Amino acid sequence: MDTRNQPEIDVIFDAETIAKRIEILAKDIATELPEDLLIIVVLKGSFVFAADLLRALDRAGMRPTVDFVTLSSYGTEIQSSGTVNLARDISENVRDRAVMIIDDILDTGRTMAFATDLMTARGAAAVHTCVLLDKHEKREVQIEADYVGFKVDDVFVVGYGIDMAHLFRGLPYIGMVRQD
Ligand code: IMP
Ligand code: MG
Repeated sequence: MDTRNQPEIDVIFDAETIAKRIEILAKDIATELPEDLLIIVVLKGSFVFAADLLRALDRAGMRPTVDFVTLSSYGTEIQSSGTVNLARDISENVRDRAVMIIDDILDTGRTMAFATDLMTARGAAAVHTCVLLDKHEKREVQIEADYVGFKVDDVFVVGYGIDMAHLFRGLPYIGMVRQD
């Protein structure tokens, strides 16, 4: 493979660290949220996290149902366009259901605010939120997630489902793209 144009990626959270954190998150969620939870996975970035969290939830004794929504906000490679676009909707009816939305990164907060507002408007009984990474410095919309994997500084991350220009989703770790 030609690696000349590959950016350098420094590991922030390795696979073992992520796996351990997810077990704890799953136990917290299983203790606090109802059995008949509907999990809504925000594609694409959170698909690896959601797959691992779902299996950890099963180990923690929870049997949620799962649906998927595709939201996009990125105008260019690394700069948010500011508007959130519903590219593909869920098929489940959320009325009177307790839902938990899973996303990869809580950044400006616009994506999660869009998703929670949508589920609330559709009559969900409760809307909980879970993100793998919280870029707490970057918030532009007032929203916090109920369950957070890790807090991170304002750096561009890839791996474990998260992409840069559609690349690096398959990395087993979360890494930081070196900007120099
Ligand atoms: P928000 O709407 O600004 O909170 O953006 C959240 C979305 O932006 C996430 O779901 C990611 O898809 C994307 N995003 C934010 N930061 C990064 C990053 O460092 N790497 C890759 N995608 C990112
Ligand atoms: Mg995303």
